[in-house]
Amino acid sequence: MSNDIAATPPTIFRKDYVAPGFWVDTVEMGFDLDLHETHVATRITMRRNHDSAEKDLVLFGASLKLLQLRMNGVNLKKNAYTIDGEVMRIANAPDEVTLEIETLIKPLKNTSLSGLYASNGNFITQCEAEGFRKITWFPDRPDVMAKYTVMLRANKKKFPILLGNGNLIEEGDLGDGRHFAKWEDPFKKPSYLFALVAGKLVCQEENYTLKSGRSVLLQVWVEDGNLDKTQHAMDSLKNSIRWDEERFGLELDLDRFMIVATSDFNMGAMENKGLNIFNTKYVLANSRIATDVDYAGIESVVGHEYFHNWTGNRVTCRDWFQLSLKEGLTVFRDQEFSADLVGTTTGRAVKRIEDVRVLRQVQFSEDAGPMAHPVRPDSFVEINNFYTVTIYEKGSEVVRMYYTLLGHEGFRKGMDLYFARHDGQAVECDDFRAAMADSSGRDLTQFERWYSQSGTPRVKAETTYDAETQTYQLTLSQSCPATPGQDEKLPFHIPVAMGLLDAEGKDIALHCDAYSALAGATNLILELTEASQTFTFTGVAAKPVPSLLRNFSAPVLLDIEYSDEELGLLLANDSDPFNRWEAGQRLATRRLVKLTKAVQAGETLELDSMFIEALRATLVNESLDPSFRELVLTLPSEAMIAEEFDVVDPQAIHTARQFVRTALTQHLRAEFLSAYEANLTPGQYTPDAISMAKRALKNLALSYLSAWSDESTFELAQTQFDEAENMTDRLAALSALTNFHGTETQANAAAQSLKKFYKDFKKEALVIDKWFMLQAVADTTDVAKVRELMEHKAFTLGNPNRARSLTFSFCNGNPSRFHAADGSGYALWAELVIELNKINPQVAARLARSLDRWKKYPLHLQEHMKLALEKVAATKKLSKDVAEVIGKALA
Ligand code: ARG
Ligand code: ZN
Repeated sequence: MSNDIAATPPTIFRKDYVAPGFWVDTVEMGFDLDLHETHVATRITMRRNHDSAEKDLVLFGASLKLLQLRMNGVNLKKNAYTIDGEVMRIANAPDEVTLEIETLIKPLKNTSLSGLYASNGNFITQCEAEGFRKITWFPDRPDVMAKYTVMLRANKKKFPILLGNGNLIEEGDLGDGRHFAKWEDPFKKPSYLFALVAGKLVCQEENYTLKSGRSVLLQVWVEDGNLDKTQHAMDSLKNSIRWDEERFGLELDLDRFMIVATSDFNMGAMENKGLNIFNTKYVLANSRIATDVDYAGIESVVGHEYFHNWTGNRVTCRDWFQLSLKEGLTVFRDQEFSADLVGTTTGRAVKRIEDVRVLRQVQFSEDAGPMAHPVRPDSFVEINNFYTVTIYEKGSEVVRMYYTLLGHEGFRKGMDLYFARHDGQAVECDDFRAAMADSSGRDLTQFERWYSQSGTPRVKAETTYDAETQTYQLTLSQSCPATPGQDEKLPFHIPVAMGLLDAEGKDIALHCDAYSALAGATNLILELTEASQTFTFTGVAAKPVPSLLRNFSAPVLLDIEYSDEELGLLLANDSDPFNRWEAGQRLATRRLVKLTKAVQAGETLELDSMFIEALRATLVNESLDPSFRELVLTLPSEAMIAEEFDVVDPQAIHTARQFVRTALTQHLRAEFLSAYEANLTPGQYTPDAISMAKRALKNLALSYLSAWSDESTFELAQTQFDEAENMTDRLAALSALTNFHGTETQANAAAQSLKKFYKDFKKEALVIDKWFMLQAVADTTDVAKVRELMEHKAFTLGNPNRARSLTFSFCNGNPSRFHAADGSGYALWAELVIELNKINPQVAARLARSLDRWKKYPLHLQEHMKLALEKVAATKKLSKDVAEVIGKALA
């Protein structure tokens, strides 16, 4: 067996870090840009790092043709250096070195979208994490920071726009139909922040005045025809600049800040210094093509990349094991930015709930599978596989815990100290923790375990009440399951925000022995640091209902036994909106689990009135923000329900959840209809919080209504589709129509609408992505239908957005169909991973992860999955990206 599986690629360990043997001071580059063959000349001045154990001069390179290599003016002979894979070593280099390197690269042939590549005839770069080595030989590691000057030369007709990092210092004609632009970045940076863009682009631009009075030029560059879709990105950029000044005292340090949108991009966006490059998905928007969710996504990604300018660029990572230093912190910052922009308490809570939903559904699942890794990993095979929800979202939760523990002011002090100490440096996660500890005087030693231990901790809460002494005891115990390479875990430092509710649902003034200084508060942050701790509350007149882990104060699973009545009280009254929502989710999950088992046992399904009435009360409660009601009325996803089972039965889960949706509609039809009517947003589309909230509730109502098939709801959806004046409403209606379980006539009408939608938007790639995605997750879409859609002329695996829209959406978002009993879903998955592996290893490796949790399924499905995994494993020329994911799944 092991014979036909390719040798596992080498693992890189954090403990093996060695400082670079040479530092780089300056980098001068000259590009002769040609899509077939680009010539790159690089001059690097370097000096020996006498503190390093590394004596050789080490450079990295990949997919390069080396034309010339000179050291201090002398051509290096072949025997003066060695090349082994991506590593070049020059032994016996003098202490001061000037290297001159000439390389040849082929942008058009570069389908990996890493390094310098072509997109619709334009040049784009992506250098994080290790793409710069595909441009020239270089010490391509984040702790080597240097100043760059870059000369771009290209045909003026084909490439009228030439962009680089920093400031434009010179431009002009070269006479032969070619022109040049010279860019200088005044700040030292690691090579992964290098960028260039060249081609036919147009921009929306604006001069913006900073708080200090300095004026900066802001530009959003797009392909021709898209200038009517840049306003929201520009607004988001200005909001980001202002927010970072106000909340963190951080100013834009350049005279010019550019965003470029490309339709060929592996990830969301990239924070290259002064020249952010974005997936079009996170730039282009107008009411015709973008949904409310898209608008929100653009705001947060524009914010995210802008905030990296300080958290990532000015202070960067010493090595890639520290990736969460910049990513976790920057996600925290973009989450806070979006929350602050809404401003209201419920608005903040809604944002928090949405973020926690992603964390639980995707990160908790990652942490329970074969790719589980600490926020600061100890090893990896391919760093691109570690741009994960653990590094990003759990990393953000870890930063949020400092914020919770130190408070608003305390956290800001910590950030100030972090920048005071480390501006211009490449540092570690431990340096951030030290800044938080030193600025606050708190001992955060134990907090280090959040970085070193993987897995989701469980906190179990047990309570006793003694009426005689009016004493309430809360015992919190923590544990953490074994994860790959980590059998035993030590206790974490867990902030547990909490309150106690009386029988009316009011907060009780708290008197806790361990927090006597805060006597009388209604919200306490308990610090759980031992395996088990008991907190005693006195003066409690009657048995209270505990509200624990308010605002989701730590990324843990909370086990607590509540009665339905207690959950009902929390849902109706908790002063913490997060826990109100949480109580509703607990009520729903309990029922969905029971019903799934009933489906498996072939029993009749019934939904109890307590649950229906609790949801009815929320739905009709007009004092509650519509977006909050929408979240409460949204059932836990099938993926979330699956987490409740040791052995997952996707079809039973689907049936149970569909049953609950239908039963709710049956009982709450009138209320859903009134919610629909009450939340129409006539007039011109605006993506403001209030209108977005209304549309969210209205469209949720529509989706419920269409679960109960009848003529009038079909009409409602059809009319909304026909008359919609924005994409949010149009797409919601199309989804309702597509998922309608009605007559044949209705099915035909739905198919017509799908056709019309395609026809109306076929020139808008981002909308066609939605068209594929909507069909990929429809519960009538089986493997055969996906194969049929793959034959559609608009489908291609070569574009990541398109590949994701159909194939990823199906494998990850349509579990009851993907996990078909005959294994046909897995066979399709294997074909796709193998095909993508040839085109784009990073994208292939993402899809490869869809079978991560294969051991959680019944044996007959496991057998099919194992075959599919082994088929991929046995593929020739498997990238290390895919090999790592599959290897870990099969281990
Ligand atoms: N630093 C970018 C961001 O989070 C992500 C780039 C990751 N790209 C990659 N190929 N690994 O904003
Ligand atoms: Zn980032």
